[in-house]
Amino acid sequence: MSPSPKDTAALPPGSLLGILGGGQLGRMMAMAARTMGYRVRVLDPDPRCPASFVADETIVGHWEDVEAARRLATGADAVTLEIEQIGVASLEAVAEIAPLRPGVEPVRLIQDKILQKNWLSEDGIPVGAFRVVRSMDELRASVRALGGRVFLKTARGGYDGRGQARIGFDGIATDAEIEAAWQSIGARPAVAEAALELEVEISVMAARNANGEVRTYPAARNHHENQILAWSVLPAGVSDEIEVQAESIAAKVIADLKLEGLLCIEFFVTRTGELLVNEMAPRPHNSYHQSERGCVTSQFEQAVRAALNLPLGETKLIAPCAIMNLLGDLWLEAPNGQPNFVAALGEPGVRLHLYEKHTPRAARKMGHLSVVGKTSDEALERVKRAFELLK
Ligand SMILES: Nc1ncnc2c1ncn2[C@@H]1O[C@H](COP(=O)(O)OP(=O)(O)OP(=O)(O)O)[C@@H](O)[C@H]1O
Ligand SMILES: [Mg+2]
Repeated sequence: MSPSPKDTAALPPGSLLGILGGGQLGRMMAMAARTMGYRVRVLDPDPRCPASFVADETIVGHWEDVEAARRLATGADAVTLEIEQIGVASLEAVAEIAPLRPGVEPVRLIQDKILQKNWLSEDGIPVGAFRVVRSMDELRASVRALGGRVFLKTARGGYDGRGQARIGFDGIATDAEIEAAWQSIGARPAVAEAALELEVEISVMAARNANGEVRTYPAARNHHENQILAWSVLPAGVSDEIEVQAESIAAKVIADLKLEGLLCIEFFVTRTGELLVNEMAPRPHNSYHQSERGCVTSQFEQAVRAALNLPLGETKLIAPCAIMNLLGDLWLEAPNGQPNFVAALGEPGVRLHLYEKHTPRAARKMGHLSVVGKTSDEALERVKRAFELLK
């Protein structure tokens, strides 16, 4: 089917943008859309979701609720998303009514780690050794074949390290350990990956609009704690060779997927200098929140531009910048229930971002601190100092 003229026209301010999902990514996209004079409607199971406070309208419904998805799309000029775990039937229902950007197919692939990993390796993209596992027997064989130390990741629904288990990290894995890992992810289809020796983790954000224009951002360097992103900094400080390779992989993948919107690729750089794709996300990404401070165009504005088929914005870095995530633990551990924001804001270059989530829970992303600095080391030091002042 060739796109109708309506599908490829640029949508001017005043148009209505629908967003599937109203979490912090949807909120920050909605803020960028409002800045440019667009109207915003979101769909989320929670009527008081983070985006609800900045959207014109919130439709309450789950990701599998096809009727709610239709209500989101009806009257919208374009629809995008902030979470990939939306039911395919909902995505298809939206796409029948309004241009769905990124598109049904790339999301269907990405939301299933088995389809995603197979697609990447068939597309010739470098990935680490992995096996698809659908039973305890296959898992046992895979642990052996992959060298004994394995990350087991459920195919569907995992995030922030949830739906993951590590095997063989405390010596040779016993059958009991493998069985426990298999049960812990719900004994469901999964990907088993060889545990890699990592030098550094980076990500690259790419954007593509319906006219096929593609732009990539400079790579970000990411640091995880307990499998959750703790901080991220731009620029990554990797070699020119790795930078060029990572950006060109991101540009190739977004074009090959024919994705209209944002695509963030998470990479591993191994101790032996290999650049391997870990996973990808068809939406704004936690590791580019600092683009709001340090890039000509933030990832959120870029998401809006891509969804509305506007010319994509410049992605150049204006200033080194970093973010640090604020997890619910900070609130739970604070003597009076609230981190010391006033102290943190005294640190030069710091800005506070809170997502207006009502209940702090351990490991729940509640907000972040962002900073700019003269160098990435300075940005990182400042954000770490500000973070310590919160405690
Ligand atoms: N094969 C691997 N070898 C070494 N480390 C790994 C491997 N897979 C995952 N990790 C570590 O665990 C982190 C989280 O893994 P992954 O990105 O697959 O999970 P996720 O649940 O999708 O996380 P997020 O939502 O934060 O991106 C990685 O960033 C990396 O630090
Ligand atoms: Mg990840």
